[in-house]
Amino acid sequence: MSIPKKVKIVDVGPRDGLQNEKEIVPTEAKIELIHRLAEAGLPVVEAGSFVSPKWVPQMADSAEIMEKITRKDGVSYPVLTPNLKGFEGAMAVGAKEVAIFGAASESFSQKNINCTIEESLERFRPVVEAAKEQGVLVRGYVSCVVGCPYEGEIAPEKVADVSAKLYEMGCYEISLGDTVGVGTPGKVKDMLAAVSAKVPMEKLAVHFHDTYGQALANIYAALEMGVATVDSSVAGLGGCPYAKGASGNVATEDVVYMLNGLGIDTGVDLDKLCEAGRFISNVLGRAPASKVSLAMAAAC
Ligand code: HMG
Ligand code: MG
Repeated sequence: MSIPKKVKIVDVGPRDGLQNEKEIVPTEAKIELIHRLAEAGLPVVEAGSFVSPKWVPQMADSAEIMEKITRKDGVSYPVLTPNLKGFEGAMAVGAKEVAIFGAASESFSQKNINCTIEESLERFRPVVEAAKEQGVLVRGYVSCVVGCPYEGEIAPEKVADVSAKLYEMGCYEISLGDTVGVGTPGKVKDMLAAVSAKVPMEKLAVHFHDTYGQALANIYAALEMGVATVDSSVAGLGGCPYAKGASGNVATEDVVYMLNGLGIDTGVDLDKLCEAGRFISNVLGRAPASKVSLAMAAAC
């Protein structure tokens, strides 16, 4: 299969990126980041999470953010909703797309959302039903698609099984998360082969954390398999509070640079994106974790 000509990039920085910061980032800075990402041409900017503020205090201002952002036409601003309570909160502030998040690992499911995989699917079902009634899109995440911080390697069939259940439930897209960034291209291809036997390839997205520096290679492997939706995080922000040691998502700047080099259209303006990354990195008091951003700044 030839690699896709066009790729949709989902920037998860304002959510996945900032959910793991030790210091809580000011709401105004999050809003500015979301605006800058939309201005840079990102078609999807994940804006927050309607989860328990006791579990993830960093996302406690998601309702305020959704109320205050200026939404750009053609841009989607999904938020995470693990249950009906979260979904109702998201609806109250006009979310048009939500995401439910399950896992292919029982231990991770317990640590992250305090229930078994089967129980999580039962909690997601009414969320998807309510979303359908209100014309709201639902994205489904599957975590630990190649490895789990608690269980080690995860069988591709397990990932395929959970993905298929979320897809059959009504998720329009399934994002496959290498939560701890342990995947390598061969394992990613085996996993994608198993999942795409049950869910059409065009409905799949890949979501790589870059803990072991494999994310770009893994994305290339996924492109070769026909995946055309890639999650990434501006300035390489990110991590999961319930996956110790997981580093940030692959930096959006690095993904865009690679896709530009391959002649793949993303609609993203790399200069504006790097500015957005420098903006949030300044707020956090550190350099962007994007090699492309650092190289472009050094070349100026
Ligand atoms: P629980 O304790 O089992 O839930 O948590 P509960 O129903 O028993 O409720 C306990 C308390 O939470 C109650 O409050 C509820 O009202 C409240 P209390 O009476 O104690 O004051 N509560 C809520 N509050 C706000 N919004 C809600 C909500 N639901 C219940 N939606 C729960 C279950 C799912 C809520 C909890 O485990 C949780 O919030 N987990 C969040 C985990 C999380 O956000 N993890 C990071 C995102 S996933 C990720 O990063 C991976 C991903 O990037 C892909 C990848 O990389 O693999 C997506
Ligand atoms: Mg993640």
